[in-house]
Amino acid sequence: MRTFTESIPRWTAALTLLCLSLVHAHSIITYPGYRGNNLHTNGTVEQTNGLGVAYDNGSYVYPYGMQWIYPCGGMPTSRNRTKWPVTGGAVALQPGWFRGHSTAFIYINIGWGTIPPNMSNPMVSVFEITGPTNDPYPGTICLPQVPLPANMTVSPGDNATIQIVEAAKHGAALFDCVDITFAEPEDVEEVTKENCFNSTDIGFRYVFASQSLTSGAMARMASPGVMAVAPILLIVVLGSLMM
Ligand SMILES: *[C@@H]1O[C@H](CO)[C@@H](O)[C@H](O)[C@H]1NC(C)=O
Ligand SMILES: *[C@@H]1O[C@H](CO)[C@@H](O)[C@H](O)[C@H]1NC(C)=O
Ligand SMILES: *[C@@H]1O[C@H](CO)[C@@H](O)[C@H](O)[C@H]1NC(C)=O
Ligand SMILES: *[C@@H]1O[C@H](CO)[C@@H](O)[C@H](O)[C@H]1NC(C)=O
Ligand SMILES: *[C@@H]1O[C@H](CO)[C@@H](O)[C@H](O)[C@H]1NC(C)=O
Ligand SMILES: *[C@@H]1O[C@H](CO)[C@@H](O)[C@H](O)[C@H]1NC(C)=O
Ligand SMILES: *[C@@H]1O[C@H](CO)[C@@H](O)[C@H](O)[C@H]1NC(C)=O
Repeated sequence: MRTFTESIPRWTAALTLLCLSLVHAHSIITYPGYRGNNLHTNGTVEQTNGLGVAYDNGSYVYPYGMQWIYPCGGMPTSRNRTKWPVTGGAVALQPGWFRGHSTAFIYINIGWGTIPPNMSNPMVSVFEITGPTNDPYPGTICLPQVPLPANMTVSPGDNATIQIVEAAKHGAALFDCVDITFAEPEDVEEVTKENCFNSTDIGFRYVFASQSLTSGAMARMASPGVMAVAPILLIVVLGSLMM
C-alpha cells in the first residue's frame, strides 16, 4: 500500500475537489448515509507486523487504512440508522477516493438484522466502473432503485446493513456500510438530482460472463453505452470459446 501513501498529495487535491462539490464529504456512501468517516490510516506496518489491524498500546491501528477491513471498513455498527424504503431504494457512492480505481468492481450487499452475521446477500449483480484516471478522482455514481434480494420481504422497523465493496484494479477490496431501518417510501429522505447522480466521467460496464447475456439483470442495468459494447464482448467470448 506504499502507493497509497505516495498518493496523499493528489488524494488531498481530490479531497478538496470533493469538498467543493459534495455535501457528504469524507464518505464513500453518499446516499442513504454512512457509518462514519473511515478514510483514515494510522500506525505502522511494523507495529502490526503486516496485519491490517492490530491492538497496540491501548488502541487499534490501521497502517493500510481502515477501509480495507471486512465487513465495514473498521467501523462498528452505528446507533444512528438511516431510513431506507421497504421496496428497495437508491444507493449513491463516491468510488474514487483512493488510487487504483481507473477500473473497479462494485458489489452492493445487505446483511440482515441489527448486527448482521454476514453481508453475503447481493442486491445487484457485480458491475464494473471506469474512472477518468488511476489517481484519486471526484464524482459519484447512483443506482436509483437497488432492489432487495429476490423473495426477501421486510417490514417497517426492521434493521439491516447495506455494504458496498469496491475491488480496485489490483484486487484490493475496500468496505463501507450504512446501517438502515426499513421504512415506508414516503418516510425516507427524498432522492433528488443533488443526492443521486452519475458523474459524466465515470462509466459503467458489465462484468461479463456468457450466462448473463440473456439474464434480466443485464437489461436492468443497461445504458446505451453498455449495450453498444455488449456485441463486441460477445464476439470476444465466442472467439475465446472457439480457441
Ligand atoms: C452517524 O453518526 C456518525 C458519527 O457522528 C456520522 O459521521 C454519520 O454521518 C452518521 N450517519 C448517519 C446515517 O446519520
Ligand atoms: C503507550 O501510550 C501511552 C499513552 O497512551 C504513552 O505515554 C506511551 O509512550 C506509549 N508507549 C509506547 C511503547 O508507545
Ligand atoms: C487509530 O485510528 C483508530 C480509528 O479512528 C482509533 O480508534 C485509534 O485510537 C487510532 N490509534 C492511534 C494510536 O491513534
Ligand atoms: C434497530 O436498531 C435500533 C438502533 O440500534 C434499535 O434501537 C432497535 O431496537 C432495532 N430494531 C429492531 C427491530 O431490532
Ligand atoms: C449469513 O447470515 C444469514 C442471516 O442473515 C444466515 O441465514 C446465513 O446462514 C449466513 N451465511 C453464512 C455463510 O454464514
Ligand atoms: C422466489 O420464489 C419463487 C416462487 O416461490 C421461486 O420460483 C424462485 O425460485 C425464488 N427465487 C429465489 C432466488 O429464491
Ligand atoms: C447511473 O448509471 C447506471 C448504469 O447505466 C444506471 O443504472 C443508473 O440508473 C444511473 N443513475 C442515474 C441517477 O441516472
